[in-house]
Amino acid sequence: MTSRPDDAVPTTESRRALVVVAAGSGARLGFGMPKAAVQLQDRTILDHALDPITAGLGLDLLVLVLPADAQAHRELAPAAVAVAAQAEAEVLIISGGASRTESVAAGSEAITEHARRNEWGPASVQVLVHDAARPLTPTSVFDRVLSALDSGAQAVVPAVEVADTIKRVDAVGRVAETLVRSELRAAQTPQGFTLTFLQQAAEYLQNHREQADSLTDEAMIAEHLGVDVVVVDGDARALKITTSADLSTAAALLQAPAHTPSTQNPGPESPSSQGPSTQPAPASAPRVGIGQDVHAFAASNEPTELWLAGLHWPHQQGLTGHSDADAVAHACCDALFSAAGLGDMGAHFGTDRPELVGASGAALLAEAAHITRQAGFTIGSIAVQFIGNRPTFGPRREEAQQVLSEAAGAPVAVSATTSDGLGFTGRGEGISATATAVLTLRQ
Ligand code: CTP
Ligand code: MG
Repeated sequence: MTSRPDDAVPTTESRRALVVVAAGSGARLGFGMPKAAVQLQDRTILDHALDPITAGLGLDLLVLVLPADAQAHRELAPAAVAVAAQAEAEVLIISGGASRTESVAAGSEAITEHARRNEWGPASVQVLVHDAARPLTPTSVFDRVLSALDSGAQAVVPAVEVADTIKRVDAVGRVAETLVRSELRAAQTPQGFTLTFLQQAAEYLQNHREQADSLTDEAMIAEHLGVDVVVVDGDARALKITTSADLSTAAALLQAPAHTPSTQNPGPESPSSQGPSTQPAPASAPRVGIGQDVHAFAASNEPTELWLAGLHWPHQQGLTGHSDADAVAHACCDALFSAAGLGDMGAHFGTDRPELVGASGAALLAEAAHITRQAGFTIGSIAVQFIGNRPTFGPRREEAQQVLSEAAGAPVAVSATTSDGLGFTGRGEGISATATAVLTLRQ
C-alpha cells in the first residue's frame, strides 16, 4: 500500500474501497433467487466471495451492492457487516441497478459521496470492483491488483490465458477469423481503478448510453477513454459462476487439493493439518487420476448400435446404458476428474444438464477436458485400456486414438485386452475400460 506519512495532507492520503456487486438475478443459473444467495456447498456464493477480504488488504470501505428487495438485504447484508468488521473497514450496503454497469455506478457513487464527506481526494482513492459471482478468487489476486494501483496504474485487470482456440464468427455463423491465442486473455475481477477514473467512466456512460449494453466492464470504458489498462495475473480459481455447470466446477474446486484460500488454510499448529487433504502437493507435482466404466451388452434381439472410443462400430451388438455407453470415453472422463480432484462424471453430467442428454462419449470427453482446464490444469496425457472379447480394437486403434485425443486436446493412448475367458468380460456379457490421466497445475 502507498505509504501514509504522518505529515500528509488528508486529501492526498491513500484510501482503499472495495465494491462487491451482487445485485444480479442469476437468471442463467436458474435457481429463482439472486445468484449471490445460492448455496455453494454449505454457504452462500456471497459468503465465499467475501472470504478473501482480510485486514491485510488495508481496506477503508466495503460497499456491497445487493438486489433492491428487502429479503435480499435481510439475507445477504449480515455477511458483509461481519467481514467489514473483521477487515477493519466501514461498510455500506446499497441497492444495485438493472445491469452490472448500473450496479457498479451505484457503488462508485456511494464511494464518491463517502469520499466527499470524509474529505478523501478522488485521485488518492483506490477502488476494487469485484463480482460476487467469482466466489473462489484468492486474496493473492486482490494483492496483485492493489500493488499495480500502488505503482500508479489508473485501471488494472487480472486476467488468465485462454485454453480454447477462439474464433470470431460472422452473422451467418461462419468463421470470420481465428484469433491468435497467445495474445488473448480472459478478464476476471477484482478490477482496480482510481476513483477519479471511475467518475470519468460514469460521465462517459452518461454521454454514450447507446453503448451501455456492450460495455461489460469498466476496463472497457478505459479503452474508450484512452486510459492504459494494466494486466496482472488472474487465477483459475477466480472462475465466474454463470451456469449450473460452473456451480459444480466451483463445488469440486472447493474439494480439490489446489484450493488453499488464506482464510481457510489451517496453520502449521492446527491438528487438522495432519491429514492428506490439508497437505497440498507442490503445485508443480503431476496429478494422477483413475477412471473405470463397465457396460453390459444389450440383448441380441434389441436393435442397438455400438459406440466405443468415440467410434461407431457397424454390425456390432450395442451396449446398454443411459448414454451411448461409450465406456472407453467415459473412463477417460473419470480419470480427468479424478486427477483434478473434481469428483466424477455423475457430479458434472447429471440431470441438471439437459444439453448433455444423448451426448456422445467424445463430446463428454471434450467437456470433461474443458472443465479440467477451467479448473487450472494442463492435461499431460490419458491412457485407457479396453477389456473385452469384442470388438477387435487392433485395426482401429489409430483411429480411436485420434478421435479421443482430439476430444481431450491431449494425447490419448488406447490399448485393449481380453480377460482370458474369465469373468463377465470373458463370458462376453459386457465390457470394461480403465483409464489413467496425468495433469499438472498451470502456474
Ligand atoms: N450484477 C449486479 N447487478 C446487475 C447484474 C449483475 O450487481 N444488475 C453482478 C452480479 O451479481 C454478478 C456480476 O455482476 O456478481 C456478474 O454478473 P452475471 O454473472 O451476469 O450475474 P447475473 O446478472 O446475476 O446472472 P445472469 O446474467 O445469469 O442473470
Ligand atoms: Mg448478468
